[in-house]
Amino acid sequence: MKTRITDMFGIQHPIIQGGMHYVGFAEMAAAVSNAGGLGIITALTQKTPEDLANEIAKCRDMTDKPFGVNITFLPSLTPPDYPAIVQKVIEGGVKVVETAGRNPAQVMPFLKDAGIKVIHKCTSVRHSLKAQDIGCDAVSVDGFECGGHPGEDDIPNMILLPRAADELDIPFVSSGGQADGRSLVASLAMGAEGMNMGTRFIATKEAPVHENVKQAIVAASELDTRLVMRPLRNTERVLTNPAVERLLEKEKALGADLKFEHIVEEVAGVYPKIMMDGDMDAGAWSCGMVAGLIHDIPTCQELIDRIMSEANEIIHARLKGFATA
Ligand SMILES: Cc1cc2nc3c(=O)[nH]c(=O)nc-3n(C[C@H](O)[C@H](O)[C@H](O)COP(=O)(O)O)c2cc1C
Repeated sequence: MKTRITDMFGIQHPIIQGGMHYVGFAEMAAAVSNAGGLGIITALTQKTPEDLANEIAKCRDMTDKPFGVNITFLPSLTPPDYPAIVQKVIEGGVKVVETAGRNPAQVMPFLKDAGIKVIHKCTSVRHSLKAQDIGCDAVSVDGFECGGHPGEDDIPNMILLPRAADELDIPFVSSGGQADGRSLVASLAMGAEGMNMGTRFIATKEAPVHENVKQAIVAASELDTRLVMRPLRNTERVLTNPAVERLLEKEKALGADLKFEHIVEEVAGVYPKIMMDGDMDAGAWSCGMVAGLIHDIPTCQELIDRIMSEANEIIHARLKGFATA
């Protein structure tokens, strides 16, 4: 399938694997890229910029296809060394960067000078327009359904995607709630040029996470995610577990008095325990409502091939049947 996104990133299928903390290692990114999508390494999972350089080199050894790096701008008192991260991305010859968290104005000149395509992931039309204004090449429009940080507007993709289509000139992909060929065709129908998936790619054979994480996603339904940290205006959609329910009790009890330090136990340092040790009750970890559509653990190649053949079938058979002469 050819879209403005496949052309822009030099990929076979309009399917992107979004950056994911403690999931977006070289193994994940290479598996998605080898299957014809765009795999993405998550910069902030690497402890130092040098480690990121090694991860990029490792990924290059594992695939000769394009892959990207996610740079997430976190609200932090001691921010990561973003200039050094950007430098390693440039030196590593990476041609696509996914930015998220905050608009990437501060790094745009460096990325653009290096000929890097920038796709900014954001959760509203106004932030998408800002990304377009500052020179981003594409946007990943992350709806309320998404795993991770859906923002504070709570607009699902059935509204957000057509709104983005009405306003944007640059191409965009859908993100949040995407899982299969139906998702891809629906996204295309609403004006997107492809789709970005997070949760779905965790439940694949190659995802370098503990088997318990994959099984938890397969076992979960669309009713099993919760929104945490809303009182801190840092809302995150996570899979429920006893730690998450405890966190929500604290939020209810403390109301407007809630501070980050009250919930440190449930949110800080959780990812390695979940993703590497498989300690599924260690705390809050991002997961999308789309878990309700995930019932198996295929390889990335099987998953992407299935999505593309299902999408083609829907376009050529089901939708064609509805068209009037
Ligand atoms: C476990 C997990 C970790 C994530 N970590 C990040 C991250 O570090 N940076 C980022 O920009 N997005 C992150 N995301 C969001 C994904 O890139 C993607 O936008 C989101 O998962 C899309 O929604 P979906 O899960 O419904 O497919 C994460 C998502 C998950 C599920």
